Amino acid sequence: MQIKSIFDKMDYGSAPESALEAQNWLKKHKYNFGNFINGKWKSCEDHFDTINPANDEILAKIGQSSPTDIDYAVKAAKAAQKKWSKENGHKRARILYAIARLLQKNSRLFAVLETLDNGKPIRESRDIDIPLAQRHFYYHAGMAQIMQAELPTRSPIGICGQIIPWNFPLLMLSWKIAPAIAMGNAVILKPAEYTSLTALLFAELCVSAGVPNGLVNIVTGDGKVGEMIVGHKDIDKIAFTGSTEVGKLIRERTAGSGKSLTLELGGKSPFIVFDDADLDSAVEGVVDAIWFNQGQVCCAGSRLLVHEAISEQFYGKLKARMKNLRLGDPLDKSIDMGAIIDKKQHKKITQMVSQTNGKVYQASSTVPEKGCFFPPTLITDLHTADPLMQEEIFGPILVCTTFRTPSEAIELSNNTMFGLAASIWTENINLSLELAPKIKAGVIWINGTNMFDAAAGFGGLKQSGFGREGGWEGLLAYTKPKKYSSKSKKIQTIKKQSIKDDYIDRTAKLYIGGKQCRPDSGYSQSIFDHKGKPLTQVPLSNRKDIRNAVEAMNSAQAWSHSTAHLRAQILYYMAENLSARKAEFVKTLQTLTGNSGSENEVEFSIQRLFFYAAWADKFDGSARDVPVKAIALVMNEPIGNCGVICDDKYPLLGFISAMAPLFATGNRSIIIPSELFSPVVTDFYQVLDTSDVPPGSVNIITGKHSDLAIEMASHMDIESVWSFSTSDISTDIEKASSSNLKRTWVNNGFTRDWYNEEGFGKEFLINSTENKTIWIPYGE
Ligand code: NAI
Repeated sequence: MQIKSIFDKMDYGSAPESALEAQNWLKKHKYNFGNFINGKWKSCEDHFDTINPANDEILAKIGQSSPTDIDYAVKAAKAAQKKWSKENGHKRARILYAIARLLQKNSRLFAVLETLDNGKPIRESRDIDIPLAQRHFYYHAGMAQIMQAELPTRSPIGICGQIIPWNFPLLMLSWKIAPAIAMGNAVILKPAEYTSLTALLFAELCVSAGVPNGLVNIVTGDGKVGEMIVGHKDIDKIAFTGSTEVGKLIRERTAGSGKSLTLELGGKSPFIVFDDADLDSAVEGVVDAIWFNQGQVCCAGSRLLVHEAISEQFYGKLKARMKNLRLGDPLDKSIDMGAIIDKKQHKKITQMVSQTNGKVYQASSTVPEKGCFFPPTLITDLHTADPLMQEEIFGPILVCTTFRTPSEAIELSNNTMFGLAASIWTENINLSLELAPKIKAGVIWINGTNMFDAAAGFGGLKQSGFGREGGWEGLLAYTKPKKYSSKSKKIQTIKKQSIKDDYIDRTAKLYIGGKQCRPDSGYSQSIFDHKGKPLTQVPLSNRKDIRNAVEAMNSAQAWSHSTAHLRAQILYYMAENLSARKAEFVKTLQTLTGNSGSENEVEFSIQRLFFYAAWADKFDGSARDVPVKAIALVMNEPIGNCGVICDDKYPLLGFISAMAPLFATGNRSIIIPSELFSPVVTDFYQVLDTSDVPPGSVNIITGKHSDLAIEMASHMDIESVWSFSTSDISTDIEKASSSNLKRTWVNNGFTRDWYNEEGFGKEFLINSTENKTIWIPYGE
């Protein structure tokens, strides 16, 4: 063969990786696994097969856990966590470090086993999955070491139930276990039923690393086992990665349980190519975005948006590149794409593609006859509302459309229920940084895709879930504020005042879009002074009023892009105007509550406005040191439209303490004041009006908490709901929030002391913001 003909054909020979060591490990376990609980193997009564999707061969039998197994694991975790949470950070760090080292030493075995079980190319498991898993343990060994010094106000949550999917089995395990144990928690982790093997190998590694018995428990099985974990009363936190459908079920199931919850769900991430992009690099980007791991990636760039002027040229280049993608034995180091996880998933993808109205292009790549393979596929000519443009396919299918202007690109990007990631390709850095804040996604890659690191948080918005994994922000999911554990007390229901038949001549209105307006219902409710005398009436609002307020918030979107300086300025004005009318507010408060400390409450309210004015331009983002030629910016962005329900205890201070942090961080809000004492808040309208508060940025609606809470929690255009209500409505809010998976922050029947550090601080700012990680690579 001549060298010239080799260059012409560019054929690769095969470069198979040996599976011998992995096979020996399976043999050592007699191809049969139980659970790993309390540092030991524990057999299961029932089993199912785990299969190599590349050749349909059975690899081993995996245990199907029973409720008794889960109980046993929880008991073991509880005993272990008690001790572990008291260990000093250095001791914890050493264990995490030992895990990282052992992962490194056994990296090839893990990579091969992962590829056998999952079907992903060995190139990916070897060069991406396993090194990133190691990095997570190294990074979090450091977090364990410095926790006491850097997070003095946070404590471990307790027992974490972690449920992971099959697309990155060991990597997802490390994203979950490393921060959990670093922060002093114990873990019960369930791998996906298709891919349990590397989690079981990891269990063995825990023994060698000296992980205390019971700290890390691996229980295997299908979704039913996941349900057992979610429903277990002694598990304090659920961390789930998987489909949006199951994420919603888990949200409903955990509602009102007080369990902390993070959900990392699906996506339909845009991959935006401008006409000035380096098109050849962008084509390689597409290959990484959608054909990496056969497209079975939650943040896959599965929706290509191309600048109209270059679309045909770009599709041409892409098709040419697709012809060179090689499908085949995942253990062959020369292949680009391996197998789809399972026949069921293969069938789902096949059906979705066969029913499309779009123009389907599949390169004539050779698809192996045996095993679950699907060729790289490009679908053009789809309407933006087409199911394939909207639904997560979770396969190697790229759908495309074109755009003409940057604003159209933003609109198309955001035209989905998901909000996980986006890639922007342009040589114009100004343009990319203009787009990045406007795209609703947790991660933005500029001229790149699928970049991950333990130091840079990852996670989504909208129906892609909530919570972050990695970075300082990821630790929030595995810690809780120390202060509430002992100080919180159950809310005492305030005694109902006696009703008298006096004539009432004052009626407050609602405050929507910067104007006072009447409620839709035409009903109002009497408000009494502390002696039981009717004082005034306030509107009883309904769904229509919430809808009007949402419209007002949507019209005020520019507020979320205002400068932090302006936000601070307006909060100072509010403080100044409240101060000027202090006597009046003290009197109203005293009349309503009979509380002799009313002067103090107004004074603290002024201070609180100053506090959030101070933070408005200081709660800024950070740049993360990631181990590649890139900078990762973590920005604190407003959540968007938020709803808040206030408590009765300190009606003015409680209202200000919730409104001000949301305002300081650029959110638009609907605030429902205390049911009993709302006039002190309806009097605040004048303060808002005289402080240059933009119309629609703060809306105030009075009425029954139980009704309005459900309306807000189930509204598809409200992104977050907080409740400090004296009424017990937390369960209803969390349940209703599953409709669009909005973020919730509820009190579960406990009250806050608005006067001390429970009532203000960074916790409020954190709950007012979303982290967005923007990756900007540099160098040629
Ligand atoms: P899934 O969401 O059903 O499974 C993920 C994990 O949740 C597995 O460990 C599973 O055993 C567990 N699980 C299933 N039902 C549960 C329940 N009711 N309660 C608690 N845990 C439960 O995902 P599946 O069935 O494997 O794939 C279905 C579709 O989900 C895929 O076609 C894909 O579109 C999407 N998916 C998305 C992922 C992502 O990271 N975004 C990951 C995996 C799947």
